[in-house]
Amino acid sequence: MSISQSPVQLIDHLGGEHLREALGRDVRAGMAATPKWLPPKWFYDEAGSDLFSRITRLPEYYPARRELAILRRHALDIAVRSGADTLVELGSGTGEKTVLLLDALSARGTLRAYTPVDVDAVTLGDAARRFASRYRGLTVRAICADFEAHLPLLPRTGRRLVAFLGGTVGNLVPQAREVFLKELRATLCPGDTFLLGADLVKDPGRLVAAYDDAAGVTAAFNRNVLRVINRELGARFEPEAFEHVALYDERREWIEMRLRASRAMRVPIPALDLWVSFAAGEEMRTEVSAKFRLGGLRRELMNAGFRVERHYTDPTGDFTLVLARV
Ligand code: SAH
Ligand code: AVI
Repeated sequence: MSISQSPVQLIDHLGGEHLREALGRDVRAGMAATPKWLPPKWFYDEAGSDLFSRITRLPEYYPARRELAILRRHALDIAVRSGADTLVELGSGTGEKTVLLLDALSARGTLRAYTPVDVDAVTLGDAARRFASRYRGLTVRAICADFEAHLPLLPRTGRRLVAFLGGTVGNLVPQAREVFLKELRATLCPGDTFLLGADLVKDPGRLVAAYDDAAGVTAAFNRNVLRVINRELGARFEPEAFEHVALYDERREWIEMRLRASRAMRVPIPALDLWVSFAAGEEMRTEVSAKFRLGGLRRELMNAGFRVERHYTDPTGDFTLVLARV
């Protein structure tokens, strides 16, 4: 369904009842599991995206700054190697780092189109309009979609650089990551490139601090998923009755965010005709954020059918961008 035309085209695969139905399926499955869990994609309504933007400016949250530093240094090299005329960005958010890639492609004289893809329609629309006015003549085709469900529906026109920044790939558990990478690979054509941002394994103390900041912004972001469920499904979660938990699982090399019930409670979710019981102290998982080693990341990409062309790592070794081809 096309909501508007020039200068920005907005294509919505989560409109109407689609978002609510998908959320409902996930909540029903997650609340029936032991331990309970919720997928991190539902953090991101307009408020969740704003909270994430605030997280990227926190002193403890190093990934955004490190990735920005890599792009400042290497965006032109990436643009030259990709030869792309179309930038497709998965989980584009506010697009704060995207400017560096668009500027580089524009400086090369190849830039024609930008296709941001995100679950948060409001932030997506705002970013799309901002980019359309910043780059004259740029075709902006914003797609509100779930990159775990809708990759085959993305437009295949142009020579594409698909960017997946921020370390969002780490929010997929290994099996979902494998499926995602293979599905993405299947949508790419010879000549297309894939730019993947990933956070690297490091000192657990720094990792936990990045997900449990002193100002409590990450805690508010974590609880936002309950507000989304309340609004969309008529549920009556009390967000403040859940404590924010962030821990590092050294064996799996991932951060886990959880919400811990501060007391026993029963929560109605009328749209699902469901009551959910929590014991005092019960924890539900709301996010994993995997940390990578270069060798493992390379293997995952190769296993999905990519050829790794280059990787760029910031001087502190905190974060990496991998450029791959099909
Ligand atoms: N790329 C930006 C934003 C990262 S935050 C950056 O690096 O700063 C993660 C973004 O991915 C959010 O904007 C969120 O709405 C989006 N997102 C999360 N899961 C998604 C999914 N399954 N499909 C599409 N977008 C998703
Ligand atoms: C979007 N994603 C890569 C962030 C991360 O670091 O896993 C989301 C986030 N969760 C807590 N803080 C930030």
